[in-house]
Amino acid sequence: MARTRRPMIAGNWKMNGLRADALALAKGVADGVKQAGWRDREVLVCPPATLVMAVADAVKGSGVLVGGEDCHAEASGAHTGDISAEMLRDAGAGHVIVGHSERRTDHGETDAVVRAKAEAAWRAGLLPIVCIGETLAEREAGKTLGVLEAQLRGSVPSGATAAKLVVAYEPVWAIGTGKTPTTAEVAAAHAHIRKVLGGLVSDAAAVRLLYGGSVKGSNAAELLAAGDVDGALVGGASLKADEFLAIAKAA
Ligand code: PGA
Repeated sequence: MARTRRPMIAGNWKMNGLRADALALAKGVADGVKQAGWRDREVLVCPPATLVMAVADAVKGSGVLVGGEDCHAEASGAHTGDISAEMLRDAGAGHVIVGHSERRTDHGETDAVVRAKAEAAWRAGLLPIVCIGETLAEREAGKTLGVLEAQLRGSVPSGATAAKLVVAYEPVWAIGTGKTPTTAEVAAAHAHIRKVLGGLVSDAAAVRLLYGGSVKGSNAAELLAAGDVDGALVGGASLKADEFLAIAKAA
């Protein structure tokens, strides 16, 4: 089969960015992507909700995609402080990250909640990036593949297809720590994820699987070359345009 999985390099800005700096960053990424003229990869930035609209405006015409970092499962209602998938869409987003480990930990999000959020993304016409990943204790106990499997089974809604789903494998212990799994460990995790997806998604071979956790310009080529890796979800290194573009270049 020809390569149908177009690599995606996604930046997760987390709770970072005031307007002036964020717009400079968005513009830097947009200029770099425009100049590179890539057609063989997608570059996505996910700013805090307050900046989605301004960033979407700032990158217009550059090819850079914009997403949210999280959404509520409901379309509207009495959920003070929450943001719906429809609101993200209305602000100019086309994607949304769901089930990031920081959401799972800080906000107690279960697989069922993550699944409902992925369904909300579909309802609003957004492409969800569903995050899964094991903790250090789980890895050390040899439970990694089982944990990933359980998270996938619980978090991926039925009816998923490759066009409606991106999965990000992010070992919790690798996020923001500078530590990364070996390429063999990444390849083993991704192979297992794809195998499990085989029972959940009709065209599992075409689903994009991103790796996330301490990806930077200097290790991107190696991590992206690991088996079954179709891109990266980048936190810290997505806050500098040059560094983020170097990762996109390595894809
Ligand atoms: P990091 O974060 O690149 O800073 O490790 C990745 C993520 O949380 O998506």
